[in-house]
Formats: sequence, C-alpha cells, structure tokens
Amino acid sequence: MVNKYDVVVEKLKKYNQEHILNWYNELDEYTQQTLLDKILDIDFELLNNIYRNKDKKVDMDNNVIEPINVIDSQNISSDELEKYIQVGEASIKLGEYAVVTMAGGQGTRLGHNGPKGTFLLDVIPPKSIFEILCDKFKIARQKYGVIIPWYIMTSNQNNNETIEFFEKNEYFGYPKEYIKFFKQGELPMVDESGKILMEEKGKFKEGPDGNGGIFEALNRNGIINEINDKNIKWIYVGGVDNVLANMIDVVLLGATIVNGYDISSKSVQKNAPQEKAGVFCKKNGKVSVVNYTEISEEMANQKDSSGSLVYGDMNILSHLFSINALNKIKDTKLEYHVDHKKADYINENGQKVIANEPNAYKFETYMFDCLEMFSDMLVLRTKRENEFAPIKNKEGLDSPQTAKELYLKNI
Ligand code: UTP
Repeated sequence: MVNKYDVVVEKLKKYNQEHILNWYNELDEYTQQTLLDKILDIDFELLNNIYRNKDKKVDMDNNVIEPINVIDSQNISSDELEKYIQVGEASIKLGEYAVVTMAGGQGTRLGHNGPKGTFLLDVIPPKSIFEILCDKFKIARQKYGVIIPWYIMTSNQNNNETIEFFEKNEYFGYPKEYIKFFKQGELPMVDESGKILMEEKGKFKEGPDGNGGIFEALNRNGIINEINDKNIKWIYVGGVDNVLANMIDVVLLGATIVNGYDISSKSVQKNAPQEKAGVFCKKNGKVSVVNYTEISEEMANQKDSSGSLVYGDMNILSHLFSINALNKIKDTKLEYHVDHKKADYINENGQKVIANEPNAYKFETYMFDCLEMFSDMLVLRTKRENEFAPIKNKEGLDSPQTAKELYLKNI
C-alpha cells in the first residue's frame, strides 16, 4: 500500500517545496497527519501558475474601455427619489434584505493587533468598527421594524477572535441569532522565491483568498441556501473598514429594483485623477472596475462637459446583488491576483522572523472581477464625505484619524 508520507514527499519534491517537512520528526502524530493532509490539499499547479504570472501586466491595449453610465444621487428628481425610497423600504420591510460584511482581510497596513473590526475608533466613548456598523442595523430596525440578518465573513486567522469579540460585547444589543459568521477560503503564502512560508514547525503559512472568495464561501457555508430559504432577495456586500458605509440604503435598493438591475454599486468621486483606486467603467461591453494604473494618463484625466472625471467613479466596496446574480456568480472561478505583503514566518533554523517590509506574496481574488459577468449595472454616485471613511493605514490618508473626523461630522 502506498504510504501517505511518501506520496507527500514525492509531491513536495516535484514542486521544490520539501522544506515544509523539515521538522516533521519533531511533531506529534496528530500534527503530522494534519500537515500531510493539508499538503495533499494544496493545488501546487495553481500556486505555481499564479506565482509565475505575478509580474504580468494587465494588457489594456486589446480592451475597449468606455465610460459607464452613473446616476448621481444628488441629481435624482424628488419624484424619482420618493419612488425609490418607497420601493426600497417595502422590500426591506418584507424581509427581503440581508447584509454581508467582508471582515476576513489581514489589515496589514493598519497593523492593529486583532481583526480590523475590533479596532477602537477614538471617539467618546470609544467604539469598535464592528459596533459602528452594528449601530446601522439597530437604526434600521427602529426605522423599518425588521431585524436585518448580518453575515460576517471571517478567515481562519481571525474567526475565533471575531466571534469572541461579539460574545464579549453581547452582540452590541442586536439579536444574536441574526448575526452569523462564516469563513472564507485560504491559500498558502510564498516568499519572494516562491517557497511556501512556514508559520510554525508543523504548519505552513496561509492567507485568506481575497475578498473575491466571498462567493465560494457563501456557497460552501450554506448561506446561499439559507438566503434562498428565507426568501431574501437582495444581499448588500461591503468591506469592514468603512465606518460611514451606508449598508442599508433604501435609495440604492429602490433604484436597483425600479430600474430592473440585478446588481448595483455605490461610487464616490475621486479626489484626483491619480488617486489609487479602482474606477467603474465598461470593458469590452461588460461592467468593470479598472485601476488608475491600467488606463492611460489621458483617460484618467479625461473630463466631461461638467468638469467631472469621466473615469472618476471609485469603487468603495459597496455592492448590492440580487439572489439571481449571486446564483450566477457563485460557481465562477475568479482570476487570482498577487499582493506583496508583510508576513512573519519561521526561517530554516526554526526561528521566528518578524517582517517589517513586504516579503511575501499572497494570492487573492477580487470580488469586483465578478462584475465582468454582467453587461450592465447601476452605479449610484454618493457624496464622499457622507459615505466613505475607510480605515486602511496606520496614519495619514485613510487612517483612524481621517475616519474619526468624517465619522464625527456625520453623527
Ligand atoms: P483590503 O484590500 O483593504 O485588505 O480589504 P485588508 O486585508 O483589509 O488590509 P491590508 O491590505 O492587509 O492592509 C478590503 C476589504 O475586503 C476584506 C477586508 O476585510 C476589507 O473589508 N477582505 C480582504 C476579506 O474579507 N478577505 C480577504 O481575503 C481580503
């Protein structure tokens, strides 16, 4: 009979990753078996492929980029607005709406010790990001008389800590049975030469598979079935780190329903053409988000007759999907992207190395890549100062300080 260990050794040899078993003989039997099983699960061909293509530039020359139609929430007529609100409210009151918050990221730029949602914003009294988000559900409960289900995507790395935080804070007074956590998938992280990094002697380093992992994770964890069973028709998906995220927006929901779209997103206008953000556009006739680096400088600077940037509507990770759209996306494999990140690891002598600079590659899918499956969507431009206060960096731009200032202006 073929021995599992031998199969693993062969596999590792083939892909030049034998170092993963360096300390195998020092491990207890349970850890040995877990490690072998985890190695057998690795798709090395996939990893090699992504790693090999890590420096490949997006070839935009063969793509036709066009502006996308955007509705500016400031220019909606009062009749239309009333209609949107009425339709959106009716849908929420019927229990057709749920929210997913993507909180599986590593938050390396912020450098907070713990899941990003547990970061305390320095207001009086201090509030965690999770509590700030939860407040919005409580307000909606009062306003619409319904308890909106809240699904929170975590990762293997932060799931337990996230749940403990909610437990400790008694779910911020929101009914516990309406808050559900589900874990996204993960992939090994590699060093700059493509070798899988070791976290401990019996464990290689893995990272969450990007916010595009949400669709597979919703499906694998039975959330899509649950949503179907509950007759929920609309799912809002947002990131964890925007303290002004308007997650329960009847205008967005109503406008999406009234105009017959299956998906919609909020956008805010860029502050400058070179602001580092993805913008909505049409790519080869499909909806797309392209980075400012992927379009020519001329296009990035192009203005319309009103002086607004033609490609200036930023993706702020604020998306609405109909259940039909989710069903369409859930089995699609999104393309992997490579992110250069800081990752602590143990070296060949078994010593822990703390990374102060990006030293590792993490493989991720981006959720906005799914938009390219659709030929049209609603992009609703909203006021930046009212709905966009991300916490990304320790200081400076998009930091706790800037988020706090914007948050205080809006409460
Ligand atoms: P970011 O791209 O800002 O990544 O995520 P991050 O991991 O939070 O922070 P850095 O880059 O390490 O500093 C945008 C949103 O997507 C979620 C994050 O939690 C955040 O809400 N996300 C990102 C996931 O849920 N899973 C992932 O694998 C990556």
